Amino acid sequence: MIPEQAELERLYAYPEGGKPWIRTNFVSTLDGAAYDESGKSGSLGGEVDTRVFSLLRSLADVIIVGAGTARTEGYRPVGTEEVDADLRARLGLAPVPPIAVVSRRLDIPDELRDQLLITTTDAPGLDALREDMDVLAFGEGVIDWSAVLAELASRGLTRVLCEGGPTLHGTLVAQDLVDDLCLTIAPVLAAGSAPRIAHGPEAVTHHMRRSHVLDADGVLLTRWLRS
Ligand SMILES: NC(=O)c1ccc[n+]([C@@H]2O[C@H](COP(=O)([O-])OP(=O)(O)OC[C@H]3O[C@@H](n4cnc5c(N)ncnc54)[C@H](OP(=O)(O)O)[C@@H]3O)[C@@H](O)[C@H]2O)c1
Repeated sequence: MIPEQAELERLYAYPEGGKPWIRTNFVSTLDGAAYDESGKSGSLGGEVDTRVFSLLRSLADVIIVGAGTARTEGYRPVGTEEVDADLRARLGLAPVPPIAVVSRRLDIPDELRDQLLITTTDAPGLDALREDMDVLAFGEGVIDWSAVLAELASRGLTRVLCEGGPTLHGTLVAQDLVDDLCLTIAPVLAAGSAPRIAHGPEAVTHHMRRSHVLDADGVLLTRWLRS
């Protein structure tokens, strides 16, 4: 059973206080795959996952996404019709959250050229992109995430939602930056070679505690907070 909208809003609320809070949102198959044979993840969790995906967007100040996901999933700026305008107004949020694309190679989809870019100071071709994009370039060689989060916070963007993908998530997990994981577990077995929802060269262990588990006809909506 899925609770009423007001209860869902309570279950997924960001904490009060205005400190930066990084939430990540993923869907996974029963065997841990981050996408199915289509190479995408959008259809895995069905309608109920789409509803939570939209609610999480509605609650966020900014959406961070890796360039790989932006390219594969055809990301575009968030439209006002995709979020809950009343909820955003009630929370005092801007009409839509901007998308912040994370990239080092700077192969940015044209549709996102008026959004934010998170990259390193030495990314190739960065100066050309500065004309169009709002650039947050911190760190040489690798992104300095502390500086990125401080810059976002200085702009009042503390309710951070990361929509993936697994490579970006791997970095955030490795650096212990994930406060909150919203994970939908789809009743699907996939096998194949798709990665888990976080992967990278560094293996770490960060304990999380359960915030909620909802069973929507076999699709499990879960939220986990930093322990
Ligand atoms: N299951 C889910 O909920 C879910 C969610 C999102 C995505 N996905 C799926 O995941 C797949 C994409 O996986 P992916 O791992 O390639 O996604 P990704 O993390 O979105 O993209 C990887 C790319 O993002 C940039 N990037 C990520 N982390 C970076 C960092 N720390 N510093 C600099 N650049 C960074 C790099 O872009 P450049 O190459 O431009 O430098 C890198 O090549 C797609 O099939 C998508 O459908 C699944």
